[in-house]
Amino acid sequence: MKIINVVGARPNFMKVAPIHRALERHDTLSSLIVHTGQHYDEEMSDIFFEQLEMPRPDRYLGVGSASHAVQTARIMTAFEEVVKEVQPDLVNVVGDVNSTVACSLVATKMHIPVAHVEAGLRSGDRRMPEEINRIVTDRIADLLFVTEPSGVENLRSEGVEDERIAFVGNVMIDSLMSFREKARATGIVEELDLASDDYVLMTMHRPSNVDHREGVETLLELLRLLAEHTSVVFPMHPRTRNRFEQFGLDDELDSIDRLVVLPPQGYLQFLALMEEASVVVTDSGGIQEETTFLKVPCITLRENTERPVTIDEGTNELMDIDPAAVVDRVLERQDEDTRGKTPRNWDGQAADRIVKRLYGFLASE
Ligand code: UD1
Repeated sequence: MKIINVVGARPNFMKVAPIHRALERHDTLSSLIVHTGQHYDEEMSDIFFEQLEMPRPDRYLGVGSASHAVQTARIMTAFEEVVKEVQPDLVNVVGDVNSTVACSLVATKMHIPVAHVEAGLRSGDRRMPEEINRIVTDRIADLLFVTEPSGVENLRSEGVEDERIAFVGNVMIDSLMSFREKARATGIVEELDLASDDYVLMTMHRPSNVDHREGVETLLELLRLLAEHTSVVFPMHPRTRNRFEQFGLDDELDSIDRLVVLPPQGYLQFLALMEEASVVVTDSGGIQEETTFLKVPCITLRENTERPVTIDEGTNELMDIDPAAVVDRVLERQDEDTRGKTPRNWDGQAADRIVKRLYGFLASE
């Protein structure tokens, strides 16, 4: 039985890698990887295949960057041809990017069952493109694999029948556990001349935070204030890099002492940087979960999170982007004792649970 696994953007690769491996171990299931090319750079895409020990994709759709409508349409058009040709028994999509919703729509309309990994997460904020992608994908997918209790509750409250929901845990944590040793062996922290537990790791890329000049200026102010107290490492997403250039603020960035601006990092290097950081400041989705697992304090600069378990049980907290207040809180949390629990089923076995359930589903079809 053939399963297509869809990957498109950076946060998809570490989720599909363990599922692909678990499928390959199964006697009767086979796994194909289709890469839409939503992210296409060496540093946003290729390096992840290499570091996560994934084979080259079976198909590469090369859609690239464009507006949401154009990107989604390009993915749908190209993916339809792949589905016609491959005739898969099931399409597996992960996360909440445009590739996730585009491929779900195509498969469902071709009467191919769809499984969604990381289903049920809701920020309640429909201005986020990812929230729309989540809602639509969950509405049409046949199997919904959930990472945390809020996901089950959200799906139930939207009227989804229990038979479609499986609380399997977090495949991103499967990858983290598999590659943690290799990450430490990269030596990136020493290479950057940083000391363990003595720097803040920062990432920012949400359109709502960086797509307008005021947002980028506030970010610059935050970096400047933070770097007065501690070293700051800032691997910059291409979206954020583009905005700094567009607003002519990139020179100012270069002038801040103790700020280390890096290109997007490989999976292993980023994992090592997270593990050794004193505090992580971010607006990402997945990093909230990885820091919770690593028990590293995390401050998320957003109004909401679709991953509340990272706050209720883990190390995460939400804050507005008020530079002075964020710096105060970072300094407080730098000295904080490790706290937080590991959420249930974040144990390295999520991909195996998914494959078991997929097999049961396909065998009963
Ligand atoms: C996408 C996802 C988001 C995810 C993020 C992680 C959607 C709607 N958004 O946002 O959920 O958190 O990926 O990275 O699917 N670019 C490059 N090289 C690349 C990829 C992108 O230079 O390899 C540039 C593009 O030209 C564009 C910008 O980065 O200007 C943003 O890329 P885009 O694909 O629009 O969305 P992300 O912000 O990356």
